[in-house]
Amino acid sequence: MERKQFFIANWKMHKTCGETKSFIEQVQGEAYLAPPFTALATAVESAKGSQIHIGAQNLSDQASGAFTGEVSGEMLKDLGVSFVLIGHSERRTLYHESDEMISRKIHRALENGLMPVICIGESAAQRQAGQTHHVLETQLKGALSSFTTDHLASFVLAYEPVWAIGTGVSATPDMAQETHKEVRRIIGELFSEEAAMRLPILYGGSVKPENSAELMAEPDIDGALIGGASLVPDSYTQIVKKGLQS
Ligand code: PGA
Repeated sequence: MERKQFFIANWKMHKTCGETKSFIEQVQGEAYLAPPFTALATAVESAKGSQIHIGAQNLSDQASGAFTGEVSGEMLKDLGVSFVLIGHSERRTLYHESDEMISRKIHRALENGLMPVICIGESAAQRQAGQTHHVLETQLKGALSSFTTDHLASFVLAYEPVWAIGTGVSATPDMAQETHKEVRRIIGELFSEEAAMRLPILYGGSVKPENSAELMAEPDIDGALIGGASLVPDSYTQIVKKGLQS
């Protein structure tokens, strides 16, 4: 089945408004960029009339209220943001986001027409202990059990092994493919096989121009979530180009 491919730049806590504008001026073709909150308005403005989609890296699990420092889905929608990353491993580990909280965030995204990009992944210790399947199944059940097959049609999943994020060591194409297939099987059990076949599953963790083609050639890998290598326009563009060609 032909699934849409997504190449999403996750800039994390990098780039000012000026740097964001300059990056966008240098990118051609379809792109998905997730700048920090402070650069979102500039990014949306700079991307007008292009094929560049702007997303946020996070959103509040609450709709509104006394939550100092938080940003709601409604505020993101108001800015013209079209997608949002949810449950990135840095959010899970550094900011203690639980599967329940991630589930609420997905609800807030859907209420505001934002495409959720839901991140899952196991740590090195969990993989070594043979717990990968269990960890991924728990994360998927915890985040997705309150959704229907119809909801799933607007979701994107990102499998990011925690040990591959920011380390320069990506999963091998074989290992990533095996795990993506496993994730699709779990989704098939939770929803339906057809829904699982339609769901784009991106790989994340040290994707760069040198390994994009071989990773994207795998049948169950439908794009990439890219951190470090997405900060330079040429590097991001190469990853997309090589990934799409393979
Ligand atoms: P990385 O980050 O490409 O720098 O490994 C990926 C991510 O955290 O989404």
